[in-house]
Amino acid sequence: MGKDMTRYKLGVMAACLLLLSGAIWKLADTASHALQLPYGDAQNVARGEILYADYCASCHGANLQGADNWRQRDVDGRMPAPPHDATGHTWHHPDAVLFRLTKLGSAAVVGQGYESNMPGFEDILSDQEIFDVLGYIKSTWPEEIIEMHNGMNANAN
Ligand code: HEC
Repeated sequence: MGKDMTRYKLGVMAACLLLLSGAIWKLADTASHALQLPYGDAQNVARGEILYADYCASCHGANLQGADNWRQRDVDGRMPAPPHDATGHTWHHPDAVLFRLTKLGSAAVVGQGYESNMPGFEDILSDQEIFDVLGYIKSTWPEEIIEMHNGMNANAN
């Protein structure tokens, strides 16, 4: 085998390795994002609190208390905004589901023609902002709810 051929093969191998490590890095990156809301990080939580006031409080309540009578469908048959505090069911969903609901909206996540007033924030908030706002929400939960939620995440991944 000529020297050129060997060099060519080594080049191809190096290129493959680069591509592979890039793919693994990307996977690890998405996985680590999907894994944990930054509820323990003061800076993320502070950013999330501002985003919450700007983008979520109008429906979910300034104190995360949800709409009045949130368990009853409105006149259009749609569900009102539930609380994001311990009395609601936000904490019943693992991180990945909360992320998808916020990014895509409830109708897109549920599918099958489901109608919902929960908008998707895909075009408004970056992925990091969605993590921050959900991290803020989680940071307000009592310790035992946070622990249950962590357990749920561990099972979901
Ligand atoms: C225009 C009103 C409105 C705004 C603004 C809004 N939501 Fe919602 N949200 C809703 C409604 C209504 C539901 C219930 C949807 C359903 O069950 O069909 C909901 C549900 C959710 C759920 C699912 C909760 C659960 O227990 O199933 C999450 C998570 C959520 N919203 C996060 C957010 C976040 C984060 C923001 C701000 C970035 C936000 N929402 C802004 C109306 C809103």
